[in-house]
Amino acid sequence: MKTTNNLFIPIFFFLLFANCGGGSSEKKESIAPPPKSMVEEEPALADPMDNKGVGPIKNVELGEIDLAMVEEGKQIYQTMCILCHKPDQKHIGPAPKGILGRRSPEWIMNMILNPEVMVIEDPIAKQLLADFYGAPMANQNLTEEQARKVLEYFRTLE
Ligand code: HEC
Repeated sequence: MKTTNNLFIPIFFFLLFANCGGGSSEKKESIAPPPKSMVEEEPALADPMDNKGVGPIKNVELGEIDLAMVEEGKQIYQTMCILCHKPDQKHIGPAPKGILGRRSPEWIMNMILNPEVMVIEDPIAKQLLADFYGAPMANQNLTEEQARKVLEYFRTLE
């Protein structure tokens, strides 16, 4: 048994390094930037406000701000979210201040209700996870109704 093990280790390292060599030479070839004409022909980046995210929320209608909902949303936020989110300052997660100006209401609710899938399948959430050094958004198991109230509170953080 011992002799077979001793043989496997050098073979393993040989394969590992052989692979690395291949990878880096491929990279070298792609260093040159694409010609300008190609860049200009690329389609414009999708508007993040059109992105509704991935999850149970398909459509949110925003009417006048409902102050009773704001109050309840604020209570939920202060018990379940404040640990990681300060209202107007980056902390463990981003500040929700002004979030309605950069994300759709559906995206925000899906991020609250379905963060595990969002950080894998949604391009904005994926980027956020990288920007926050892999700290994931925590699923606090809110109901849709609770998430909607938190959204209403977020509308007041302009
Ligand atoms: C344990 C820490 C933690 C808790 C608790 C938490 N979050 Fe997060 N949240 C994060 C982190 C970290 C991110 C950014 C990185 C990511 O998405 O993976 C994030 C991202 C978000 C985003 C996206 C923000 C943006 O600017 O796009 C929203 C919305 C959000 N959280 C809402 C909430 C709400 C509402 C609660 C409470 C119900 C909550 N979070 C609780 C850590 C947390």
